[in-house]
Amino acid sequence: MKNIVILISGGGSNMAAIVRTAQAQDWAKHLGAQISAVISNKADAQGLVFAKAHGMATAVVDHKAFAKQPNPREAFDAALMAEIDTHQPDLVVLAGFMRILTPGFVAHYAGRLINIHPSLLPAFPGLNTHARALEMGCKFAGATVHRVTAELDHGDILAQAVVPVLSDDTADTLAARVLTQEHLIYPKAVAALLAD
Ligand code: GRF
Repeated sequence: MKNIVILISGGGSNMAAIVRTAQAQDWAKHLGAQISAVISNKADAQGLVFAKAHGMATAVVDHKAFAKQPNPREAFDAALMAEIDTHQPDLVVLAGFMRILTPGFVAHYAGRLINIHPSLLPAFPGLNTHARALEMGCKFAGATVHRVTAELDHGDILAQAVVPVLSDDTADTLAARVLTQEHLIYPKAVAALLAD
């Protein structure tokens, strides 16, 4: 059985979409794959509630607990890796996981680490993608599923979805339109990788 570990920080709606799709499509039977754990860097991440309610194993590795260590980022990533590796993952899925990962973490999961980013990469890496797209007068926006490399929001593109930008859009209305598409392309991209 292939193991999937999903990392979240907040609402976890992309994680929920993947969990729902895995259950609806019976990935265990058809892809020989299971979601082994949902891990958050925040104990109060709303997504944990959904994950537990849907029978997922959950864990929290709180990045704040490492703040006083000499190398907090490395220490957190080492603890996170240790937790993830108890599940022997074939695929680690970042789903609204709001941490910049160390090169060591990225190298450890080379070929097994993917992310979804709410823009049409390579446009608008980083934060506030929707506000920046509106500011630039973009006529289209979207989301990208990509492999994770040491450079933030770079790496091979696995899937994209495009939505129109409407004249009365705010960052919030645009984000909501893009998010609906994220929920479609992310489970599909995960399934495609597992079927490979
Ligand atoms: C999504 O737009 C995701 O692409 C971004 O954070 C947003 C929230 O995602 N990284 P979720 O509801 O926590 O999945």
